[in-house]
Amino acid sequence: MSIFSRFKYLPGQILRKSRFSGSLKVVRLPILETIRVTARSFRNPLKILDYVFQDDQDLKYFDLPGFTPILFIRDPEMIRQITLETANGGDFDRDTLPTQRIGRVVGKNNLLYAQGELWQRHKSGIVRVLGTKAVQTYDVFHNLENTIKTALEPQLEELAEKVRTSMLNEHPMHLENDIKAVMLNLLVNVLFGANITQAEIRDKYLPAIENVIHYIMLDTVANPCRLPVFRLPALTRKHARLKRDRQIFEELVEKVIASRDESAGFWPMLIASGSDDAIKSNVRVFLAGALEATASYISWTLLNLGRDPDSQEKAYQEALACTDMTPEARGKAVYLQKVMLESLRLNNALYFLPRIALRDTSITTNQGTIHIPSGTHLVLATYHTSRSEKYWGKAATGFPATQFAPDRWNEANMKAFGRSTKDNLHFGFGHGPRVCIGKHFSEAEAFVCLTLFLKCFQFRSVDTYLEADSGVSTRPLNKVHLILTMRSFGVA
Ligand code: HEM
Repeated sequence: MSIFSRFKYLPGQILRKSRFSGSLKVVRLPILETIRVTARSFRNPLKILDYVFQDDQDLKYFDLPGFTPILFIRDPEMIRQITLETANGGDFDRDTLPTQRIGRVVGKNNLLYAQGELWQRHKSGIVRVLGTKAVQTYDVFHNLENTIKTALEPQLEELAEKVRTSMLNEHPMHLENDIKAVMLNLLVNVLFGANITQAEIRDKYLPAIENVIHYIMLDTVANPCRLPVFRLPALTRKHARLKRDRQIFEELVEKVIASRDESAGFWPMLIASGSDDAIKSNVRVFLAGALEATASYISWTLLNLGRDPDSQEKAYQEALACTDMTPEARGKAVYLQKVMLESLRLNNALYFLPRIALRDTSITTNQGTIHIPSGTHLVLATYHTSRSEKYWGKAATGFPATQFAPDRWNEANMKAFGRSTKDNLHFGFGHGPRVCIGKHFSEAEAFVCLTLFLKCFQFRSVDTYLEADSGVSTRPLNKVHLILTMRSFGVA
């Protein structure tokens, strides 16, 4: 916000005049209470959004005098329109404010962070390898499946051995670490074709990336003066460890980039002609961001199936039928696809989409119109939209919004409730021009992982109630375990 705008809007802000005109009701958030909740819950931002939407209103705003207002939106039709109007000359773009702390670690010259023309250049370089056309072609998916299978087998075999040798043939699996080790393995060795051992991934690189991500989450609050933490000499043991872990992360980035010279993984398909800085920055985003999101996605799906034996049995029967995982086989695994859709709806990995209004603009839905002034920060609260009874509950879909119910997605069911494709967007991968570039890779990856896991193990969740924690992505608060028993004695 420029100095001029700060003074121009200050009197109105002090007099609590809303800057959002139009026929839609936009409710002001109380300043002191909102600051108190934010300070208390900064480690788990989902709690801040719970507070914002506690009274079931879809449009809220926070207007601190001297600052640009923040508009919180939970209406799915409005979210759809805004995501479609994002980038490519539209009225909105991704807001880089919430990702500034990520930018300070991974760099700003990447697909996630860039805006305007620079974003378009990043996108055109990467879309060829990760876009729908690439991942869904027979050759790519077929190879992807085989490569994922080969990369996964040693990890599944290790897990199976633990189950076989455990007392009562039951093994408690620590989801967060085990799944993250699998996901990092797939990103590093399958996507980028690097040749890094399981042990190094699990014991060296994963803990280092975890520590760096943990720092990213704390940075805004713990480092308001923007001290160059990584360049300062180590002041404490914790600081020394953070600096070392950052170096280990960089070492992994270098190794991944080195695999480009060997034309490994997907590198040959990538138009990797950007500057070294841009390539490094994108690799960092792919490793850190995608690791968090894919681990969240698979963990929640396994936990949901672990709490619902009937759904697990149906998914298992379908997995058994998948002997050759081609795009056609994936197309036939109709129930598993509903499981994945439902899991992402219920447990959105990325719980909000940040946007900024590039100019004065309006949005109109069948409920009315809202005028949004230029510069407004928007929080598209997708996690809360998907869990809202109004949009996804019994009256709208036949099942309570917070229940895991893959049958909600039955075509006949959705038809009976008069829902169109538009109504069924869950925004788990975003929507519109800035939709997730890793969507198709992640869907293929999730399908293969789940199919192999289901064939190998029967599993149940330890906890009956799952509360979400949130950092870069959502994850189970209690770091819940699954109890595994063997289905068969061979892996997959
Ligand atoms: C299940 C796993 C994943 C989920 C749930 C997920 C979710 C998302 C979402 C919701 C967005 C849109 C954010 C917005 O609109 O502001 C996004 C963007 C993005 N994702 Fe993912 N993601 C996943 C996996 C991946 C993977 C595997 C990669 C890379 C290999 C990746 C790279 C990106 C990038 C670079 C963007 C920015 C795209 C752009 O702005 O054009 N994601 N992701």
